Amino acid sequence: MRTIKLGTSGLDVPVVAVGCMRINSLEKKEAERFVQASLEQGANFFDHADIYGGGACEEIFADAIHMNDSVRENIILQSKCGIRPAKGMFDFSKEHILASVDGILSRLRTDYLDVLLLHRPDTLVEPEEVAEAFDQLASSGKVRHFGVSNQHPMQIQLLQKYVKQPLVANQLQLSITNATMISSGFNVNMANESAVNRDGGILDFCRLHDITIQPWSPFQYGFFEGVFLGSDKFPELNEVIDEIAAKYEVSATTIAMAWLLRHPARMQPVTGTTNVERLTDCIKASRVELTREEWYAIFRAAGNVLP
Ligand SMILES: NC(=O)c1ccc[n+]([C@@H]2O[C@H](COP(=O)([O-])OP(=O)(O)OC[C@H]3O[C@@H](n4cnc5c(N)ncnc54)[C@H](OP(=O)(O)O)[C@@H]3O)[C@@H](O)[C@H]2O)c1
Repeated sequence: MRTIKLGTSGLDVPVVAVGCMRINSLEKKEAERFVQASLEQGANFFDHADIYGGGACEEIFADAIHMNDSVRENIILQSKCGIRPAKGMFDFSKEHILASVDGILSRLRTDYLDVLLLHRPDTLVEPEEVAEAFDQLASSGKVRHFGVSNQHPMQIQLLQKYVKQPLVANQLQLSITNATMISSGFNVNMANESAVNRDGGILDFCRLHDITIQPWSPFQYGFFEGVFLGSDKFPELNEVIDEIAAKYEVSATTIAMAWLLRHPARMQPVTGTTNVERLTDCIKASRVELTREEWYAIFRAAGNVLP
């Protein structure tokens, strides 16, 4: 699969990351098959979080991949911390970050993470404490690179003022049908709903600062409401995607993924599929280059507004 640099980390990563949030829906054998099929196709970047399946997803993954030192050398592991669902809060305290990483490493059966992301902003963050936690994790070799998720530019700048390691990735909700970070940039200063800037200009900020955007839920509309492909809620979008898919002789899944990859911000979408065939279709997108006309036709067909 085609690779990109992850932010300023120097790491070469496949353009499509494999999200492991739903891996606990698979039986043991299915999980093994899914992980092996990913590796065979060069999809060796796996996205986790300490909260997925309450920690079970990381354990299921480690079992499925038969984690050992030689397996570990050939994969890139990213996980996230900072959400505490049981307590109904976010937590970027030093103590919580350090404890979370120890939990992640033990569930993944490894002694280091390639990338650690802070999962969702914590308004009670003390950035000096995050800096201490990151220093400790970096010097102990437990974490090689750091990033964030769901953060706007000011939140990133606040952290980066104290944290000396570069923040290399920002994982954000983005799909053809959840594209406010793109549409607000078309409608600057216009008196319409699409002009509403919900993220402080995160798309351009990340490009300016070489932070890789990792779109999450690339096939969902709303907040996990469902998949837009094949949905009767998006007839025009499906018609346009199907037409383009027929032209390239690929599936609609490949085209929806190719739409994200066509953006010059050089994003790394995180797929959520647990289905080998769908994963293969996502990976195929790295070989499809949509034209400018096709990219805009898909954008408009989803109901996104151009001035
Ligand atoms: N940072 C964050 O806050 C955050 C939040 C959410 C998720 N994430 C990460 O992003 C990853 C992806 O999120 P996601 O799982 O919501 O992404 P997604 O790929 O948009 O959705 C995956 C789900 O949609 C189904 N699906 C996809 N395409 C389909 C199609 N053409 N027809 C029918 N069903 C289809 C999949 O079913 P099948 O398994 O059957 O294919 C799966 O249940 C997660 O694994 C996680 O790593 C991060």
